[in-house]
Amino acid sequence: MGDNTVILTTLNDAWSSPGSVMDLFMDSFRSGVKTSFLLKHLVIVTFDGKAYKHCVKIHPHCFALGTEGVDFSEEKRFLTSGYLEMMWTRLDFLRLVLEKGYNFIFTDADIMWFRNPFPHFHPDGDFQIACDHYVGNSSDLRNIANGGFIYVKSNERTIEFYSFWYSSRFMYPGYHDQDVFNVIKHDPYVTDIGLKIMFLSTAYFGGFCEPSRDLNKVCTMHANCCIGLPSKIHDLRIMIEDWRSYLSLPPNLKQLRALTWRVPQNCRYGMVLT
Ligand SMILES: *[C@@H]1O[C@H](CO)[C@@H](O)[C@H](O)[C@H]1NC(C)=O
Repeated sequence: MGDNTVILTTLNDAWSSPGSVMDLFMDSFRSGVKTSFLLKHLVIVTFDGKAYKHCVKIHPHCFALGTEGVDFSEEKRFLTSGYLEMMWTRLDFLRLVLEKGYNFIFTDADIMWFRNPFPHFHPDGDFQIACDHYVGNSSDLRNIANGGFIYVKSNERTIEFYSFWYSSRFMYPGYHDQDVFNVIKHDPYVTDIGLKIMFLSTAYFGGFCEPSRDLNKVCTMHANCCIGLPSKIHDLRIMIEDWRSYLSLPPNLKQLRALTWRVPQNCRYGMVLT
């Protein structure tokens, strides 16, 4: 974008088959309110050759991120070593993006984009992250962050923070980058470097853990708190149908309070996993 912001997502083979998560993700931009132009600023980062080949068929901006000797294809079960390796590789890559002077929104592909999120970011936040559970105050560290949607400005503080976050991996072996974030957000070092962390309200940036209840406000909806690809795809499809029905309503009916999502259905897990 004009201000050096790029939207990034990652794709592995399991999510790239027709009708799977990546197709739903791209569809959401096309059926969102003023979101289709954002696709021009989206770079899809792929973890394996098959996903890369698929990417170039569906999108003009693809980037192959490789790690020698690690196979990132197929569905990675949560917290297997392959899954963790992929998450941490991604984190290190995002640090490089910041070092090159680009601000980014990182979005998981199982997040549907229904409205442009930029008007809802905090102007003075360095690092802004969505939540599984939002406590009602954007600077309260008790918010439970979800690393599936993050907006980061490139500056000295964020580059330092990403280095710190990555190095914390070795202090908490076996943990997901997001769990490590929920620990290190309290570290005095974060205050020392002056990083301004802001949490994004689930009113705008929701998910199955805590939905954005008002369809007149929702920007993004994440298929978090959901285990298993078939359940995820099932509920995401219904979510997109709900969105399209909402859009087709005349303006007076759009305001009805009773309007809401029919999901989660198969994705019914409280505050468990993402
Ligand atoms: C929000 O949280 C911050 C940090 O914990 C605190 O300083 C501030 O007073 C809180 N604001 C409100 C309105 O509760």
